[in-house]
Amino acid sequence: MNCIKRLRSLLTRSSPKQFPRAFTSSTDDKVDETRQWPRKIFSGIQPTGSLHLGNYLGAVQKWAELQNSGEDVTYCIVDLHSITVPQDPETLRNNIIQMTATMLACGIDPNKSTVFLQSTVKEHTELNWILGCLTTMARLRHLPQYKEKTQKMKEIPLGLFLYPVLQAADILLYKTTHVPVGEDQVQHIQLTQHLGNLFNNRFGTTFPDCHAIIDKKEAARIRSLRDPSKKMSKSDPEVKSCIYLTDEPDVIVEKIKKAVTDFTSEVTYDPENRMGVSNLVAIHSLVSNGKSTEEICKEVQGIDTGKYKMVVAEAVVEHLKPIRTKINEYLKNPSELVYILEEGREKAQGIAEETMAEVKQKVGLGANLSEFSVLKTISKKM
Ligand code: AMP
Ligand code: TRP
Repeated sequence: MNCIKRLRSLLTRSSPKQFPRAFTSSTDDKVDETRQWPRKIFSGIQPTGSLHLGNYLGAVQKWAELQNSGEDVTYCIVDLHSITVPQDPETLRNNIIQMTATMLACGIDPNKSTVFLQSTVKEHTELNWILGCLTTMARLRHLPQYKEKTQKMKEIPLGLFLYPVLQAADILLYKTTHVPVGEDQVQHIQLTQHLGNLFNNRFGTTFPDCHAIIDKKEAARIRSLRDPSKKMSKSDPEVKSCIYLTDEPDVIVEKIKKAVTDFTSEVTYDPENRMGVSNLVAIHSLVSNGKSTEEICKEVQGIDTGKYKMVVAEAVVEHLKPIRTKINEYLKNPSELVYILEEGREKAQGIAEETMAEVKQKVGLGANLSEFSVLKTISKKM
């Protein structure tokens, strides 16, 4: 009897946080497909050095556009994802600050967007575990990014395997409806949809269906300048394949001059048959305030690809110049950047806590046990 008293007092002790009533009422909720969800945008980026043109044109430029059109946007620097491969702690810390400065320089405004660091909101890893218990190894093993990343590894860290589950947790935690990403992330968003649906079917409607936003076709996959059959990527050992936002103008010119094209001198946009030159036209169009690829090709009619490279280089240098200047400005005051991340954490944390309270209750884990009939059932049995 004593033991029941102690249990009762533990469970009924007033909780410091009151969770909204709606979350505490039903564990036997049915899936409600008609439920309307508010539009919420979430995306993430790893703090691994500087952004390259692919990250910027494929993702971050779009983030700023969404923010400026008044959407509810949250952007997360996913440091937990970055430790799926070994990181030097000091470099990682620097890269976090560098990425914060870069995001702001690209137009992300902390007054309009929530910008925060993933590892400062512990609910990401909590939901990761719960989702990990819902998925299977077979499902994760077939994801293309996992296969690609582990191809040459003898010993595969478990973190790399769980990487997409943590990404799903990032997205679902904020009840995200739309995720602006590059094409390479589509399978991860599909896994997120699958895990969200699985959770809803098992425990009642909790998460909205989420969708990738990849609306500018030519931005979805910026290609390597040295091998246009591959995407532009910072892990490419070929230095000239990738333009960084922090590259000096002469470095940008040099890289674009060396870009691989083909033997036809005319400039056309034909991504299937002429990947190299089409990649340059795509980049040119994306840094030219809404000029379409057709307009660009018309404008440069009569110029050969060699000369055209210089036109593209100039446009890229001009576009990146103010961004580079702003990155350097922001980096002069790192404590301000830390403050911005802290403010973002506060906003994100509130939502994350609410979702986790709901999730734990639905799963039957230890949150708000006192709201349920567990006590009555136990005391009846005694
Ligand atoms: P990551 O650098 O892999 O963390 O990617 C950050 C964001 O940039 C993700 O939304 C990617 O889909 C996007 N991204 C990365 N590489 C490219 C690329 N070559 N073209 C377009 N988008 C890209
Ligand atoms: N996996 C993403 C990438 O490599 C980064 C990421 C982590 C992300 N969590 C996310 C992207 C949530 C969108 C939403 O680019």
